[in-house]
Amino acid sequence: MPPCYCVAPHDSARLEPNSCLSLMNDVQQQTSHLWLPFTQMRDFDRASRTFVRGEGNELFDARGKGVFDAVSSIWTIVHGHCHPAIVEAIARQAARLDHATLLGATNPVAERLAERLCALTGLDYAFFAGDGASAIEAALKMAIQYWQHRGQPQRTRFVRLVDAYHGDTAGAMSLSDIAAFRSRFGALTFETLPYDLAGEFGSDVAAVVVEPLVQAAAGMRLVPAALYQNLKNIAPLLIVDEIATGFGRTGTMFAFESLGLRPDLACVGKGLTGGALALSATLAHERVYEAFLGARGDAVQFFHGHSYAGNPIACAAALASLDLFQSEATLQRVASLSSLAARRLDAMRRLPAVRETRQAGLMIGVELQRDAQPGEAGARVAAGLYERGHFTRPIGDVVQFVPPLSSTEAQVNAFFDALAAELAA
Ligand SMILES: Cc1ncc(COP(=O)(O)O)c(C=O)c1O
Repeated sequence: MPPCYCVAPHDSARLEPNSCLSLMNDVQQQTSHLWLPFTQMRDFDRASRTFVRGEGNELFDARGKGVFDAVSSIWTIVHGHCHPAIVEAIARQAARLDHATLLGATNPVAERLAERLCALTGLDYAFFAGDGASAIEAALKMAIQYWQHRGQPQRTRFVRLVDAYHGDTAGAMSLSDIAAFRSRFGALTFETLPYDLAGEFGSDVAAVVVEPLVQAAAGMRLVPAALYQNLKNIAPLLIVDEIATGFGRTGTMFAFESLGLRPDLACVGKGLTGGALALSATLAHERVYEAFLGARGDAVQFFHGHSYAGNPIACAAALASLDLFQSEATLQRVASLSSLAARRLDAMRRLPAVRETRQAGLMIGVELQRDAQPGEAGARVAAGLYERGHFTRPIGDVVQFVPPLSSTEAQVNAFFDALAAELAA
């Protein structure tokens, strides 16, 4: 009987092997009431994609198979799954103050996290939300309300990059430039303007929104650094979306640092809690924040908020994650793993099955030559990689490699070995 991976090895309530088998049978046989995002439910094979445990850089499925989380559970996991320091911070905070609203109240954990994020980014105030898209919505509304307070209410339009992606809520979708994410929902979206290097911004533009350095959802598309230079002085407001790139993935804590950008607003999410809980923030320069100050009756406060904004448990996880960047020298590890990945990509580029490779630190895309149908090669290779012990999700024909920053050299090498073997097969 193989060992049971359904519960942690130290868990006193560890399942007996027979119970584990029955759990697997349950997974295969039960009717599910769960509807998954961006997933064709008719084809979905629950038996082979039900994760029951995470440990370190691995996920364990209900069959007992451990796989390297080569996509960091869509760019969220930073220091590995269930890192003891984050688990402990969550447990400690949950027992002290689980939740208290930020609508007209505050809590010390959210205060501390706001201070840490401002110190890290050079911005001055943090406005919390839950998912990344919510932070983007807040940034868009801040920009519009800011211009109302500055006597330019006609500034309501947004400029974005070609191939942009900023999330799936209505405002974030409107900023997106990828048909698959946006085209069906024209009834909900508003028009946004593509950024044109040569152009000036009209007097109706509220802000320019950019993903710095790399556009992850576009297939790890690299944006030339020169494209951002013009923005530094002429954008009416500059909103930088660090939701995918933030917290070390491209090599610096935030990608905008390496571009020398000075955002008015920056959105963070995903890796903010180390990937353990949903938390995002819109960070604002004081010139934006100050436009919202007034007497009670002026009604100039920011008209936006979410029930779980600044949830203390999520904030405690985020503080623990930020501490780990120091205690585990995370950015140094990213530098050495990125060099290793660059060497492996050099060899990979020469394979006939590979069309292009792209890398910004540990955000990596290997674009495959197309099969008859777009996306077929990507799906086939990702399925093969899973059998070889590596979990990733293709973006069309781009195989993503965005590993946890805590990955080992052996895990990175094993991924590239498996990918090379899969492509040869
Ligand atoms: C650059 C960027 N912005 C925003 C988002 C939306 O974040 P969330 O999925 O947490 O809403 C994503 C998600 O992938 C992203 O990559």
